[in-house]
Amino acid sequence: MANPSLLILAGDGIGPEVMEQVKRVIGWFGEKRDLAFDVSEDLVGGAAYDAHGTPLHDDTMARALEVDAVLLGAVGGPKYDDLDFSVKPERGLLRLRKEMDLFSNLRPAQCFDALADFSSLKKDVVAGLDIMIVRELTSGVYFGEPRGIFEEGNERVGINTQRYTEGEIDRVARSAFELARRRSGKVCSMEKANVMESGILWREVVQKVRDTDYPDIELSHMYADNGAMQLVRAPKQFDVILTDNLFGDILSDCAAMLTGSLGMLPSASLGKPTEKGPPRALYEPVHGSAPDIAGQGKANPIACILSFAMALRYSFDQGDEAARLEAAIETVLAEGARTADLMGAEGGTPISTAEMGDAILGALDASL
Ligand code: IPM
Ligand code: MG
Repeated sequence: MANPSLLILAGDGIGPEVMEQVKRVIGWFGEKRDLAFDVSEDLVGGAAYDAHGTPLHDDTMARALEVDAVLLGAVGGPKYDDLDFSVKPERGLLRLRKEMDLFSNLRPAQCFDALADFSSLKKDVVAGLDIMIVRELTSGVYFGEPRGIFEEGNERVGINTQRYTEGEIDRVARSAFELARRRSGKVCSMEKANVMESGILWREVVQKVRDTDYPDIELSHMYADNGAMQLVRAPKQFDVILTDNLFGDILSDCAAMLTGSLGMLPSASLGKPTEKGPPRALYEPVHGSAPDIAGQGKANPIACILSFAMALRYSFDQGDEAARLEAAIETVLAEGARTADLMGAEGGTPISTAEMGDAILGALDASL
């Protein structure tokens, strides 16, 4: 049988340097666990714009639709700030999400024991935190029409449209319920049904899917503003949070920061199951391209490596190997390995991106 295929799009800023470490980890699984991947690489974001004048070349898009999974680093940087909206680096990422139909975005917010002190919240509020945000990713205000900046009388008006069909709500609700079955069975759905019709429909459809096909799931509903407040007040009350594209963008940054380690969090974006079996999928760290430290060997590769662990679990049915990789990362953190972003008040000397890679490969070797 052919090896599973992976397309690597390292992108901009720290993307390429953190991806370098992921490639070493992928190589390790091929060599030591007989889990070889056919890896190809291409450009996305500003890097693609520099080469082709577009943040995502059509050939790259076509390739992304063929492979078993895409691993993405990060896109964007100040160099591209003045570009026309249509060719900004972010448009490359949004095109991938849309054309791969990656409607379900899983964003874990997990507090690593060794790093609980880094949270801006008190340690006991966040220690052991393990939340999964399921964010709708291909619709809502990010894509709704009409949109644009229009002339109206003697001034301009900026318009974006929040739009959700029943089908779009239904499918992302199912993915949250399926996921919850593999966790605590608890889902909290967040919208603004008090002010938005799209929120009323969201609440109705989510409840109906639960009542019809997932009666074992404990479902609650919360207004998204209250959800933001509860996330900061008592985050451990949540397990799976289901929400739309824009609220999910905001709530997931908030949840991520609770853990004190934005630089540590991975994400998975999944579509419908394909004929081949596993869904179309794109894996990427939650952090951005961090242009201020790019090219200096300072970046933390853990979020990107954990994104590959999610790929092992959700695309390649290798949950045990994913757990091995996650445990290796817990081990190096417990042993005190720290990149610059993880240096606390106690100080010390940070290790480089590559040294963090070395440490993780060492822990993987020790796991055999
Ligand atoms: C994210 C980012 C993106 C988003 C940007 C880069 C388009 O903030 O993945 O959360 O808004 O979805
Ligand atoms: Mg965001």
